[in-house]
Amino acid sequence: MPDAPALPTLATERLILPPLSLDDAPAIQRIFAQWEVVRYLADQVPWPYPPDGARTYVEQVALPAMRRGVQWHWSLRTRAEPDRLIGIISLMQDDPGNNRGFWLDPQFHRRGYMTEASEAVTAYWFDVLDQPVLQAPKAVANEGSRRLSQRTGMRLVATEERGFVSGRQQAEVWEITRDEWRMQRRGHSAGAAKPD
Ligand SMILES: CC(C)(COP(=O)(O)OP(=O)(O)OC[C@H]1O[C@@H](n2cnc3c(N)ncnc32)[C@H](O)[C@@H]1OP(=O)(O)O)[C@@H](O)C(=O)NCCC(=O)NCCS
Repeated sequence: MPDAPALPTLATERLILPPLSLDDAPAIQRIFAQWEVVRYLADQVPWPYPPDGARTYVEQVALPAMRRGVQWHWSLRTRAEPDRLIGIISLMQDDPGNNRGFWLDPQFHRRGYMTEASEAVTAYWFDVLDQPVLQAPKAVANEGSRRLSQRTGMRLVATEERGFVSGRQQAEVWEITRDEWRMQRRGHSAGAAKPD
């Protein structure tokens, strides 16, 4: 089967999101291997993180899945510092109930960056990949991630126990359909077009 077409670089008001590449592995290794980043990620993430964890993941998991056209991964960079990777955001079609994942360098938390990146990537899921629904699991304790889902119009559809790097705990599955997403976007642009 021929490889999937190359991913485009996405851009938002403050960020650029080039597709993941093997050159990103050293920065991922440096930033990702922190408790604050991994504690609420699924327990498939090895912990303690091995010294070659990022390279192995990028080379043997993420890039092959991108070539097969079942996963899509981008790095996050600010427009101000485009050479500095500050996080990763991913879409997955091959993991039912887990279609989007993300993490950000703790130095850059709480500035709205992941809200901005997830808007761009979710638009790609619905408008380019033409998927009918996006689901994302998260630990109940992961306030930032839950808040992001709430603020971007997702609905809570399930509560269940799951394994995370920090142990088994309550998790929630959040969802938004393509129709809900499009309706919400129309609402936003109608609002934006209204005179004050
Ligand atoms: C989850 C994560 C990506 C959020 O990124 P971020 O750029 O800091 O998020 P944003 O700044 O866009 O914030 C989104 C909302 O969550 C809130 N928020 C963010 N971090 C929070 C925290 N630690 N506690 C409470 N609320 C938080 C923000 O105030 C914002 O709410 P608002 O829109 O009402 O103001 C980041 O915390 C992270 O990388 N965590 C570690 C990895 C991880 O857990 N990934 C998700 C797995 S499901």
